[in-house]
Amino acid sequence: MIKKITVFLFFIAFSGSVLAQQTNNEEKKRFIDDLLSKMTIEEKVGQLRLISVGDSHPLNQTLNEIEAGEIGGIFNTIVEPDLSQMQDRALKSPNKIPLLLGFDIIHGHRTVFPINLGIAATWDRNAIGKVAQVSADEATSDGLNITWAPMVDITRDPRWGRVSEGFGEDPYLTSEAGRIFVEKMQKQSLKDKKSLVTSVKHFALYGAVEGGREYNSTDMSERKMFQEYLVPYKAAIDAGSRAVMVSLVSVNGIPATANHWLLTEVLRDKWHFNGVVVSDHGAIRELINHGVASDPKDAVRVAINAGIDMSMNDEYFLKFLPQLIKEGAVTETRINQACRHVLELKYDMGLFSDPHRNLDPKLDIDTMFADNRLHRQEAREVARRSIVLLKNNNNVLPISKNAKIAVVGPLADSKRDILGSWSAAGRASLAVTPLEGIKHAANNAQSVDYAFGANLSNDANLYRFLNLYAEITKFDNRPADKMITEAVDKAKKADVVIAFVGEAQGMAHESSSRTDISLPASQKQLIKALKATGKPLVIALMNGRPLTLTEEYAQADAMLETWYLGTEGGNAIADVLFGDYNPSGKLPMSFPYNVGQIPVYYSHLNTGRPRGTENMGKYTTSYFDSPNEPLFPFGFGLSYTDFNIDFVLSSTEMTKDSEIVVTANIENIGDKLGTQTVQLYLQDITASVSRPVKQLVGFENITLKPHEKGQVKFVIKYDMLKFWNDKMQYVAEPGKFNVFVGSDSTTQNKQTFILLDK
Ligand code: BGC
Repeated sequence: MIKKITVFLFFIAFSGSVLAQQTNNEEKKRFIDDLLSKMTIEEKVGQLRLISVGDSHPLNQTLNEIEAGEIGGIFNTIVEPDLSQMQDRALKSPNKIPLLLGFDIIHGHRTVFPINLGIAATWDRNAIGKVAQVSADEATSDGLNITWAPMVDITRDPRWGRVSEGFGEDPYLTSEAGRIFVEKMQKQSLKDKKSLVTSVKHFALYGAVEGGREYNSTDMSERKMFQEYLVPYKAAIDAGSRAVMVSLVSVNGIPATANHWLLTEVLRDKWHFNGVVVSDHGAIRELINHGVASDPKDAVRVAINAGIDMSMNDEYFLKFLPQLIKEGAVTETRINQACRHVLELKYDMGLFSDPHRNLDPKLDIDTMFADNRLHRQEAREVARRSIVLLKNNNNVLPISKNAKIAVVGPLADSKRDILGSWSAAGRASLAVTPLEGIKHAANNAQSVDYAFGANLSNDANLYRFLNLYAEITKFDNRPADKMITEAVDKAKKADVVIAFVGEAQGMAHESSSRTDISLPASQKQLIKALKATGKPLVIALMNGRPLTLTEEYAQADAMLETWYLGTEGGNAIADVLFGDYNPSGKLPMSFPYNVGQIPVYYSHLNTGRPRGTENMGKYTTSYFDSPNEPLFPFGFGLSYTDFNIDFVLSSTEMTKDSEIVVTANIENIGDKLGTQTVQLYLQDITASVSRPVKQLVGFENITLKPHEKGQVKFVIKYDMLKFWNDKMQYVAEPGKFNVFVGSDSTTQNKQTFILLDK
């Protein structure tokens, strides 16, 4: 009886909420229909314009255009009095439509967190969630309401500088990070005052540019797209991302901005996306260079008809759309549809009833960046979680707080570099450098000595590139050997040397592709000289992409990947160096031995002639001058303790309607508290198409005291076995599957089950 009443009450509550949703949708439709009926074509087109306030579009001009109803959203400013003023003027426009206020919030806002590749290295859903939540809190409290994030482009080519902005090579890990960003930024309801609308980007395949060269073309089979590269965008959309930013590159011969198949057939028709599609900065005029539009007007026609709703920083929409409609090259229906997407978003955000949400017209810049508005504790927690221990011979790490330490290297005391790229709202002056963090944590700051040691590079061209718009990376004019001698003298007096080497943040950014991803010669010379002192050498890497590190790996006694860790980076590094925190990060991208191996990623297909195949002699898939495998594999990362992992399956058979529980038993066999990320991989051994040798389908963290044992459980579900088959249907095929559980992608801990044909 009680059960029946509960079911009945649930039904009433459920139908009540369905009814409320329906009424809300009807009200929304009435409101927007009414608004659209009052708008001129120019005002409708105005809603489709996103303008970057700055040199090319000064504030006064922007304010006037806003008041004329010619702008739907602005971005690139965080000055609250300006944002307030702009919103005021929008309310004076003919139809009083509030503005979207956007900014790139990629890995933090005022508080800068590790770069996204570092965030992915936490393999920790809570840490990822913390980044997204704090970023949204800070951004919304600065009055912003939309961002161009998360970037979920799968990246398998470290030559591309933007690998730093993504979550690495794997569809599952990237999808999880993207999903969490969307959920934690947008919140349950866009009306929440702390909700920040996300724009998942860059749709699609930006990370697959040929040769890793920025803005280059991409070309890929549909199967690979749907199986791997499109998966994270879809996950972010399924999580509710209300905007999508389109990639600058061409996808199978058609620029994404002009790609009707991608933007309409896939995104709208197949995936039922009903939010706003935004073009990337200047992408519409670039259609002329791509060779799919003859002039600016033609570019507008092509983009809007392909499915672009809002144009980002293009002057052409307003200039040409009204005319294109008159000529019948673009229908008014299409404009109404695009405008409706924007108005619906604004409606759902509650902007019409609260346009000045979170805006404080009196907030001056100094108050805005006050230290007490930062989230230092959260930043430090995530930063230390991001650090990956790559080597630790003879337990060189952790270091005693009483040790005499020589801190060396061009990145050891750089406040700007530790923030990484895409940190425009961060303040370098508020960041903690490794030197500061180490001095602060050591028992006696006097026992920590410092030498710059070497410039990042001796190549003047690199400095010209880095300082093209402003002098960000300073070149030390002292002779190279003098700087090295100073570092070596200090190293000789120390118990341990820590060298901070890698890339300037500007080397791992948009438009910073490299063909040589090794350390520049100046830094190699420094390391060689430090090694020659015979002192224990810790190499702490600061970089935004996998580098080729064979030589340094051999030279180092211990090696840490610290990425660019953000505002609290120096303190987080000290936590790990001194053992206040036991490192637990895992690589989200494979690190190749050499550039010639690229792309090298763990989830490749097998070949007909796998290496090691018996009786094939030299005729197997391999390089004769290099290993096939990377130097550091995907998922790899050490700890100050060790773990044993084994696992059992609840069954060796599975059907469409059943599941298999994987129970992993983990034991901390060392003498320090530590966290292990247990990784679950599957392999579909035989199918109608070749399947990867391994594919990540789950991961969980477990923290264990010395000699403690624990368990982690995963559930293998039918849907996890699905893939795009030979007929491009998304199905699971009966047959044998391998299950691998371990601490990185090379694990050979294997069990097998069969998916039965019933
Ligand atoms: C980038 C985008 C970014 C946009 C706005 C473009 O250059 O490709 O990722 O969101 O600028 O700043």
